[in-house]
Amino acid sequence: MRADLTRHMAGRAKTVGVKFLEKKRYLPKDLEKDREMSTNSLLKIAIDGPAGSGKSTVAHEVANRLKITYLDTGAMYRAITLKLLRARCDLDDSSGVEALLAGTTLQVLPGGQVILDGENVTEAIRTPAVNAAVSPVAELLAVRQKMVRQQQEIAGASEGIVMEGRDIASTVMPDAPFKFYLDAALPVRARRRLEEQLDKGLPLSYENILDEIKERDRIDSERALSPLAVTPGTVVIDTTSLSIDEVVDRILQEINRGRD
Ligand code: DC
Repeated sequence: MRADLTRHMAGRAKTVGVKFLEKKRYLPKDLEKDREMSTNSLLKIAIDGPAGSGKSTVAHEVANRLKITYLDTGAMYRAITLKLLRARCDLDDSSGVEALLAGTTLQVLPGGQVILDGENVTEAIRTPAVNAAVSPVAELLAVRQKMVRQQQEIAGASEGIVMEGRDIASTVMPDAPFKFYLDAALPVRARRRLEEQLDKGLPLSYENILDEIKERDRIDSERALSPLAVTPGTVVIDTTSLSIDEVVDRILQEINRGRD
């Protein structure tokens, strides 16, 4: 059964992945045993890519199948953005930003719930206001330093992790043995995001989303600090016309090959 990325991202094809998991092994038995005893460096998997490339859905599924930790680092930048928006903090006021960051605790629970200063903000970080503000916040040095430090601590403490974002291969886990960059044609990425937003009942137009994604791409890839880019040694996958299972399979094949 095929489930294209958009349908899967909208949550309607969730059972497809589960059934698939039951009937197919991804690591030969000896490798699975090996994985259970793996050192932290063995199963560090970096997945980077622009908005709408399908990386969250894919990264989550890869982590599920390998039974290792999944971390959506974009959610962390979104949570900080929410905090700065609520505080009406001027992004040019670096000492104000630093003071707010110093008083911030951020946790991402194993189920993906995002807890900001004790409050569950998992849904609040997915609003159009946060979408529009997050890229400029992610440009700030103090924000990136705090996020990267926390992400590296999480990676160091885990027995295996799939981490997805923009700078995972270049900055957060440059030593990861498995690095992937997912991309897709711009109209396809915008269409996927539109479906997600419509599913949440947000009345956005395709043109709005296309413009927003273009602007986020521009800021994320032109910024001075760890811009979105393909790092040497990274496997690039164009997801434009691939199903979710095809992308996940491709990644797992690369990992199995790399472990042979
Ligand atoms: O993946 P996302 O759309 O939720 O990410 C939100 C923003 O966070 C994105 O515009 C860029 C930024 N980001 C980043 O700079 N570095 C990361 N590792 C992850 C996200």
